[in-house]
Amino acid sequence: MQDETVLVTGAGGQIGSELVLSLRKIYKHVIASDLKEPGPDIKDVGEFMRLDVLYKNGLMDCVKRFNVKQIYHLAAILSATGEKNPEMAWRINMKGLRNILDVCTEAGVKKLFFPSTIAVFGPTTPKVNTPQYTVMEPNTIYGISKQAGERWCDWYFQKKGLDVRSIRYPGLISYKTKAGGGTTDYAVDIFFEAVANKKYECFLKEDTILPMMYMPDAIRGTIELMETPAEKITVRSGYNLSGFSFSPAQLATEIKKTIPNFTITYKPDFRQSIADSWPQSINDSVAQHDWAWKPEYDLAKMSTDMIQNIQKIEHN
Ligand code: SER
Repeated sequence: MQDETVLVTGAGGQIGSELVLSLRKIYKHVIASDLKEPGPDIKDVGEFMRLDVLYKNGLMDCVKRFNVKQIYHLAAILSATGEKNPEMAWRINMKGLRNILDVCTEAGVKKLFFPSTIAVFGPTTPKVNTPQYTVMEPNTIYGISKQAGERWCDWYFQKKGLDVRSIRYPGLISYKTKAGGGTTDYAVDIFFEAVANKKYECFLKEDTILPMMYMPDAIRGTIELMETPAEKITVRSGYNLSGFSFSPAQLATEIKKTIPNFTITYKPDFRQSIADSWPQSINDSVAQHDWAWKPEYDLAKMSTDMIQNIQKIEHN
């Protein structure tokens, strides 16, 4: 077990709730923090602290008091919520990150992880096999804030020597904690509805292809990136990372292999135009080269695992 103290903001969210458990297998002291109290598996088995990322003094106190050496800054507002409340999304995503970056440099935090996203790309970006370096004109507040966030991270690396690392996550699929307020959330909700009710009304069109990833791959990738020797890291904005791509219709076909009487209907809403502005597939050759990234799950393996685990949850 490593001794360094690690702080995770947004620890109660979709990524945080799983990442904290994995980090606690490696580090003795992992402080989970969030605005709201997380579930018992986070709170009752390790340190928890209520922290607001908009309140720099509180962050600074925590970092100094516990001699925090690494921060995973996960607290953020996702795409769909961001479009409904642009001001709040900008404040939390931008001011929250600025506070964290300043606390890191002022208090001597050694390493920072910043989650970026495929939403940093926009309608003018090549949609298929989207390269690491390409046109980026995001048109959601979430995407704009994350793209600006990437630039800030790179600036803090260049100008202040902060060892900041980042991944452009695709849509993340998981069963432990549901996503909230994202455009790729349908790919999580569909499984819960398929197991419970055998039907799902999708808020995206049937042929909307998006890049996705299963949470175990995302967690492993995140920790692998953070454990890579600094001299191998060539990207300080956000690494492209690819899992697999599918449309709602393709996912429904996959689910039907296990739940044959599952049916899907389509009622696209405002999230359709968000999805239409994003890539369909991602080229992650730079991540493969720099830190040997390789996903383990494909659509079939992920679907089987999701259904089995949700069935277990429903039966308990
Ligand atoms: N999953 C995110 C969203 O849909 C994209 O990063 O907002």
